[in-house]
Amino acid sequence: MVSGDPISVVILGAGTGGTSLLELFVRSPGIAVIGIADKDPAAPGLKRARELNIPASQDVANLISRDGTSLIVDVTGDPAMAGFIAQHNPRGIQVLGGMTARLLWNLVQHEARIQGQLFQADKLATIGTFTSGIAHDINNPLYFVMSLAEDMLDEPDPAVIQDHARDIVRAVRRIAAIVKGLTLYARVPSANELVDVDLNAALEEAVQMAPYATVLNEIEVATDYVARPMVRGQPEEILQVCVNLVINAVQAMNGRGTLRLSTRREDGMVIATIADTGPGISPDVLDKIFAPFFTTKEPGKGTGLGLHITQTIVKKYGGVITVSSHEGLGTTFRLQFPSAGQ
Ligand SMILES: Nc1ncnc2c1ncn2[C@@H]1O[C@H](COP(=O)(O)OP(=O)(O)OP(=O)(O)O)[C@@H](O)[C@H]1O
Ligand SMILES: [Mg+2]
Repeated sequence: MVSGDPISVVILGAGTGGTSLLELFVRSPGIAVIGIADKDPAAPGLKRARELNIPASQDVANLISRDGTSLIVDVTGDPAMAGFIAQHNPRGIQVLGGMTARLLWNLVQHEARIQGQLFQADKLATIGTFTSGIAHDINNPLYFVMSLAEDMLDEPDPAVIQDHARDIVRAVRRIAAIVKGLTLYARVPSANELVDVDLNAALEEAVQMAPYATVLNEIEVATDYVARPMVRGQPEEILQVCVNLVINAVQAMNGRGTLRLSTRREDGMVIATIADTGPGISPDVLDKIFAPFFTTKEPGKGTGLGLHITQTIVKKYGGVITVSSHEGLGTTFRLQFPSAGQ
């Protein structure tokens, strides 16, 4: 066998052990399963093999005498099988059976258990991050609302009451925004809500909204747009992508710098870039920024959901979002969407 050729395996025994090995082998790049056999026609591995288009039979003798086999794996557990294989194996193909097959089977079971545990741990960790993040972000404005409302109960001055009421409205809006961000995960929009959206218009609208998020006093906005860069999607979701990126950019610049927005078409794609002259993102957190609840902003300022939601929307429409950043110089986010037919 030339090294690098796949190992062509025949599995004897299609019970639980044989089926697990089959699943493992078909996932392994260096292994080709060329057949599986079991005397019992109802053995689960035979059915599974047929689904995978792998020859499955009850004829053990025929299977092991086939050309091209480099290894026979015997997991029948049948003590007579070793003798039977020897009789029908004139070319002396290597056999993995008995204790060695059991060892392999144990390893496979162990791997499956670990995979299961990892999956479970991962799920729990995600739910944990999620719920603690939500609790944290909703609790802050909630406590704020509560203490303002308590103060209002015995506050005689109408001007102070009005001030408190205004703060309450702001805090409740913040909670509503957090909840809105979360419902995005649960929403299943119907296909007919999709329309052609002009990215230039979405970026412009995002710039109009930015003053509500931060101070813009010395921020210059420079644009370089191609005409009608259309992408297919729900308008409010495409807008949300632009708003999240533009707001991050202006927040990063902290009231001073240049926001550069551009759109262009390239190979059936629409590309948009949102670039800022802010402090940049340090290389050690660059791969975390799209994770849910990752934020470097002080408590109450950021939920860390912005980029995660942005990426979810972009992927949903077959797009890609990438980032490049240089500390001290600024950050550029690049969006790429399939161009909508015009
Ligand atoms: N343009 C940028 N310049 C510098 N850092 C950025 C930029 N965009 C994102 N980041 C970093 O990525 C982190 C995550 O961004 P993300 O938008 O997901 O959350 P956030 O802005 O902190 O909170 P929010 O949920 O309110 O958007 C930010 O806290 C910040 O550290
Ligand atoms: Mg953000």
